[in-house]
Amino acid sequence: MGALAGKTALVTGGSRGIGRGIAERLGRDGALVAVHYGSNAAAAEEVVKTIEQAGGRAFAIGAELGVPGDAQALWAAFDRGLAEHGGGEGLDILVNNAGIGLFGRIHEVAEDGFDRVFAVNAKAPFFIAQHGLDRLRDGGRIVNVSSGVTRVAFPSAIAYSMTKGALNTLTLTLAQELGARRITVNSVLPGIVPTDINPWLDDAQQQVRVAGYTALNRVAEVADIADVVAFLASDDSRWITGQNLDATGGAGLAV
Ligand SMILES: NC(=O)c1ccc[n+]([C@@H]2O[C@H](COP(=O)([O-])OP(=O)(O)OC[C@H]3O[C@@H](n4cnc5c(N)ncnc54)[C@H](OP(=O)(O)O)[C@@H]3O)[C@@H](O)[C@H]2O)c1
Repeated sequence: MGALAGKTALVTGGSRGIGRGIAERLGRDGALVAVHYGSNAAAAEEVVKTIEQAGGRAFAIGAELGVPGDAQALWAAFDRGLAEHGGGEGLDILVNNAGIGLFGRIHEVAEDGFDRVFAVNAKAPFFIAQHGLDRLRDGGRIVNVSSGVTRVAFPSAIAYSMTKGALNTLTLTLAQELGARRITVNSVLPGIVPTDINPWLDDAQQQVRVAGYTALNRVAEVADIADVVAFLASDDSRWITGQNLDATGGAGLAV
């Protein structure tokens, strides 16, 4: 029996990158996993197939985030998917992972880009949590995928960094709000991880540079982050809430 047997999880942006790693790991741990995607249904179905081939249970749900009514659309798709897969009602683990990047120093960021990155990275998780509260069972988990840029300044992505700062504040405040229901709320802070968000990391020289940012002197793998999320999703983390857990391999520890 896996650590999450009998639990239901929703991973936003579970179709690719870090979210895919998280969905597959939670599936291996025994959870029924709702694999959310924005536009790429085929990628989400592939993740579902991978989880099923490993003996797990999963289903895909689509909803574009960052647009009006996104959270309601997501939960409606979740409810439909769950009913079709005999999962009963409600869920135990919500992972707010879906997000987009935005490069630009302060003088380079345009207003529409600023609004868009906040809509997807900060506003959507807020309303997904708000509309999910009645579904989330007591003793449940919310894990927000934030970023190491909230600890180590990265001026080339200032607006993106601000969205993750907002997410960390959501974590802190919601943890206090939901503590009475034994629901824990935590953030995980990855450093630079090779996913579609970072196509420049295909370059070997860039990999050496990025490895050099970390105390552990290597480039992260998606599993490095997924394993931390799995811990926060499990009963082992029951006494941890309202925290920002750095998972950067020790980026920026020394000057
Ligand atoms: N990779 C890194 O270096 C890194 C570092 C720190 C933090 N993070 C954070 O980790 C999370 C995942 O990043 P990633 O690198 O895995 O990204 P990714 O490979 O680009 O995957 C993004 C995922 O989010 C979904 N998504 C994006 N925009 C969406 C929208 N508007 N509506 C619905 N779904 C949307 C995508 O689904 P579709 O393909 O269907 O659109 C996809 O499943 C993000 O929150 C990111 O900020 C990443």
